[in-house]
Amino acid sequence: MKIAVLPGDGIGPEITEQAVRVLKALSTDGLRIEMEQAPVGGAGYEASGDPLPEATLKVAEQADAILFGSVGGPQYDTLPRPQRPEQGLLRLRKHFDLFANLRPAVVYPELAHASTLKHEVVAGLDLLILRELTSDIYFGQPRGVRINEAGEREGFDTMRYTESEIRRIAHAAFQAARKRAKRVCSVDKANVLETTQFWRDVVTDVHREYADIELSHMYVDNAAMQLIRNPKQFDVMVTGNMFGDILSDEASMLTGSIGMLPSASLNAKNYGLYEPIHGSAPDIAGKGVANPLATILSAAMLLRYSLNQEATAQRIEAAVRKVLAQGLRTADIAEPGKRTVGTREMGDAVIAAL
Ligand code: NAD
Ligand code: IPM
Ligand code: MN
Repeated sequence: MKIAVLPGDGIGPEITEQAVRVLKALSTDGLRIEMEQAPVGGAGYEASGDPLPEATLKVAEQADAILFGSVGGPQYDTLPRPQRPEQGLLRLRKHFDLFANLRPAVVYPELAHASTLKHEVVAGLDLLILRELTSDIYFGQPRGVRINEAGEREGFDTMRYTESEIRRIAHAAFQAARKRAKRVCSVDKANVLETTQFWRDVVTDVHREYADIELSHMYVDNAAMQLIRNPKQFDVMVTGNMFGDILSDEASMLTGSIGMLPSASLNAKNYGLYEPIHGSAPDIAGKGVANPLATILSAAMLLRYSLNQEATAQRIEAAVRKVLAQGLRTADIAEPGKRTVGTREMGDAVIAAL
């Protein structure tokens, strides 16, 4: 089995290193994983002027899955758009047709007090946000800045979804719900946007094949509020690329920290890119304090979905629960005044707990 490891920028290399160490530690029980590292994002731009160098794409194509850190940084924000780090990630998602982005927000009992919300609101939460990842306003054409008829400069993007794009993510949502509490909430802005009224209509149509699953619809503004008011009302939340981006960062705070949320981005053949949902955290990069658990949990998802190693995935998840139960905390999940550990120490603890 072969994994392409793309650490990226900022805290990316620090957190990816811990996930790689965890995967290597598993080789003791016969798991043979070959890993090849390659630059992406700002690191790709530095290496060869391209956030997704051709050689990196080749490494990814020859692998069974990608373990991805994070990309971006203020030093790259003034580059022309095609050279910007984020394009490396967006192109990877598009190239491999990774349309289904699973972002599970699970509250570990030991961390129910780390959330900024009341313990009873978040305790026991197990929510799956399913974000469509290869369409919507992120990829719609045309886009740009133009001179309009009044002679004024105007910026524009295009929100769009084809029927087949909505159908496949709706199927993915209903099938995911079947393995869970059998409830899907589709989030849209059908009261204002044509694209998302169409989304609602198509999701409703696909639902006719899933009589065992309960479907509800919610406007995105209300959904943002309900996630804070009573998140446990949700089982699977399915939504478009842009709303899913925003709602998943919001949901991460229910679990205690954005440093806890892993993700899997899958295509129809279960080839996947696995990454924490957070970014390169320039404010803490290079300090060795970032929480590596979202990345380590992403490696567990990689084993589960792309390598078919369910037992080993569960072993990693159990090890994470164990270190949390032992009281180990990086700064983002620590109670004020309590002892914290660094990125590497957290990695060490997970490996010891395996
Ligand atoms: P961010 O997620 O990088 O950081 C937001 C806040 O969360 C920061 O205070 C940061 O320190 C904290 N944080 C994030 N991950 C953490 C971790 N593992 N442990 C502890 N704290 C953590 O979002 P941002 O600041 O808006 O973006 C920074 C850069 O990252 C931008 O260039 C952006 O484009 C990029 N970005 C990349 C990805 C990705 O690679 N998938 C995702 C989001 C943002
Ligand atoms: C994420 C990030 C990306 C997104 C950016 C970096 C392109 O925010 O993975 O959530 O918007 O999808
Ligand atoms: Mn995001």
